[in-house]
This record gives sequence, C-alpha cells and structure tokens, in this order.
Amino acid sequence: MTDRAVTAVAGTNIALCKYWGKRDAALNLPATGSLSLTLAELGTRTTVAFDLEGGAGAEDRVVFEGAPAAPAFAARVSAFLDRVRARAGLRARARVTTDNSVPTGAGLASSASGFAALAVAASRAAGLALSPAELSALARLGSGSAARSIFGGFAEMARGNAPDGADAIARPLAAGDGWDVRLVVAVTARGEKPMGSTAAMELTARTSPFYAAWVAGADADLGAARAALAARDLAALGAVAERSALRMHATAFAAEPAIIYWNPATLAAIEAVRALRAGGTPVYFTIDAGPHVKALCAAADANAVAGALAAVPGVLRTIVAAPGPGARVVEET
Ligand code: PMV
Repeated sequence: MTDRAVTAVAGTNIALCKYWGKRDAALNLPATGSLSLTLAELGTRTTVAFDLEGGAGAEDRVVFEGAPAAPAFAARVSAFLDRVRARAGLRARARVTTDNSVPTGAGLASSASGFAALAVAASRAAGLALSPAELSALARLGSGSAARSIFGGFAEMARGNAPDGADAIARPLAAGDGWDVRLVVAVTARGEKPMGSTAAMELTARTSPFYAAWVAGADADLGAARAALAARDLAALGAVAERSALRMHATAFAAEPAIIYWNPATLAAIEAVRALRAGGTPVYFTIDAGPHVKALCAAADANAVAGALAAVPGVLRTIVAAPGPGARVVEET
C-alpha cells in the first residue's frame, strides 16, 4: 500500500566539525567528514502521501507553513521525491506538507531537519523499508547536513570513498550519549541568508586559496572531536568547534568575491562567549552559513549563557536547545 499519509519529525543538527565543500556536486558527496549534535527543540515536521488516483501527469503539491511553497523550494522537494519514486518504482505525484518549529523569518529554517524528515516520511509513504544507513544516504541527496539528522545526539558523517556515495553516510557516536550539554542559539538577523551553502561551498572551493588547507585539516579535527567526546572533555570539544567554524569562515572570507556571513552582532556574540569563558564559564561558539552564533555549554550553565547573549546589542532572541532524537515516523494514516 502506498496511498497512506506518513508524518515524520526530525531535529536540526549543528556541526561542531563543519562540512564545507563537496567532492561530487550531483550526489552531494562531502569533501570531508563532519561531526554534529542533533537538537530536540529546532526541527521539522513533514507529511507525505503519494496520490495513486492522480496518476503520473499531475505535479507534486508542496505546502510550506500553511501556504503553497515557493517554486524553487517545491522544485527541490520534487527532485528529491523523484529519487524516492525511482527507487520504489512509483510514478504517483505526492502531497507534502512541512512545518518548521522555528519561525521562518528567524533565518534558522534548516535544510538538515527538512530533508531528514522528508527522507523518512517519503520513503515510508512509498512503501520502502530503509535502514538508518540507507535513510542517511537518501537524506544526504537532499542536503549534506541532513544525513546527520537521521541520528540523534552526536553523529559523525563520513566523507566516504565510493563513487556512488554508498559510504558517505552518518553514524551515531554512542560515546556522546547522555552527555548533558546545550547549544544556545543567539539569533542576530531576520530573513534568509544572502548566499545558500551549496553556492558558497562551490565558490569557496573554486576561488579560495585557503580551501585546500581546510580540507587537509579536517581529519585531525574529527579525531580530536572524537577523543573529546570519549573523554567528555567540553573544553577540548569546544576548542575543536571554534577552530573548525573559524577556519570554515576564513575560507569563505578569502573567496572571490568574498563571502561574509557575519554581521556586527555575530562578532559581539563571539566576544560575549569569550568574556564568559574568561570569567570561568566553559562555553564555546560555532557559526554556520549565516550570522547566528551557537554556544556550546553544560546544561547547568545554559540559562546564564542565554542571558549573557540576550544582552548583546543586536541579538534578537536566544533559544536553548538540548540534544534530541533522530528522525522518526510519528503518525501513519
Ligand atoms: O547541508 P547544507 O548543504 O546546507 O550544508 C551545511 C553547511 C554548514 O551548515 C555550514 C555546515 C554543516 O556541517 O552543517
């Protein structure tokens, strides 16, 4: 049966060792491995139903936050569904409704949770029974970071070597299970980021003289992050997270034309994290392809960190996020 509606949820994830660059654009294969924490609070809820009566001619209908999705977004969802249809031997069009748990205007809408939830819902609705590793490879085709959100807690995405991407998948890192850390998100701008991550990665890889050094350093960072997880050493994990984020942004600053995701509040929030640390609070920052700052700290320090970041000029709001579970089906009708 394939005419059922399947609803899946997924939490977004924040990389502590960043993915920044592809070794194959068509298959979304990363140039390096990456390591992340999947979050409970920020995520996506997606329902997929294939319309068996509608035949093959009609279009997919994609509803995002209650309204028909923008054409570019709908096209990206349809292209992803085409892969699921091909695999399931299905021609039917689909109805997709998707909602993020963060206000879209906050600029935090995440392709990681979005494609993880879509992979889980669409594959199940199409009658496929995929393993977590297969779901991770499928989610990666939508967005590289989505491969990690299939798993809860800490996860590591492998660069992989296979040309078809079969081994470019994430796996859960059990060493981090139950570690009571938080990521405090400091939102520093409204609206969408100026350049999407795929275009920015491509420009960086093509024009930044620092890109080769970035790729060369990734394995050492991953090794250090794994060791820090095994030792539950927040200072060591935080140090890796900060240098991975700064080096990723350094490659982008040096692209031509330069890619600068930061705004003044980004830098002020970085300074606030460093000041907290100088005052004795173990807290460390990371920044993705946007201006927001995410601060890694112990659960016990999260409220104080959120308070300090909320007081930074230009910080619009803060969100305290805990580790969360992997992508999963929550409803089938
Ligand atoms: O999954 P994408 O293609 O949106 O790329 C994500 C890139 C970063 O968020 C900047 C880093 C990461 O590893 O998540």
